[in-house]
Amino acid sequence: MSITKIEIITRPEKLEELKEAMNAIAVAGMTVTQVYGCGLQKGHKEIYRGKEVAINLVPKVKVEIVICEVPVEKVLETAKRVCRTGNVGDGKIFVYSLDNAVRIRTGEEGESAIIDPKS
Ligand SMILES: Nc1ncnc2c1ncn2[C@@H]1O[C@H](COP(=O)(O)OP(=O)(O)OP(=O)(O)O)[C@@H](O)[C@H]1O
Ligand SMILES: [Mg+2]
Repeated sequence: MSITKIEIITRPEKLEELKEAMNAIAVAGMTVTQVYGCGLQKGHKEIYRGKEVAINLVPKVKVEIVICEVPVEKVLETAKRVCRTGNVGDGKIFVYSLDNAVRIRTGEEGESAIIDPKS
């Protein structure tokens, strides 16, 4: 089994729904960071809290998820369904293959560091 990291950069207002949707498909862990970014439009024409942003970096959230049992496609479909509004700035999803993972408490590596032993 391979370990994949999925990074979703999207609108802050989508975070709650995204968290719940990921929980519903048994995604075990995630790291959330508040970030600033821009995409193809360099931040222009993007609306944040009802205002068009004057600066070129728009607040976003970055959600990092590492999976091995949950299918990558399922995570991608879920993120797209929740985060898509159809307007510019909906975000990006980056997919990486991960070399290794370590659970510090037990020293477990690889899949065992990710998979819940009770599931
Ligand atoms: N090429 C990139 N490299 C790194 N981060 C990126 C890149 N493109 C987008 N991002 C990140 O994703 C966020 C959302 O990007 P955005 O949705 O504006 O992408 P886009 O390609 O311009 O698509 P859209 O046309 O829908 O706006 C950015 O604020 C930035 O944090
Ligand atoms: Mg854009």
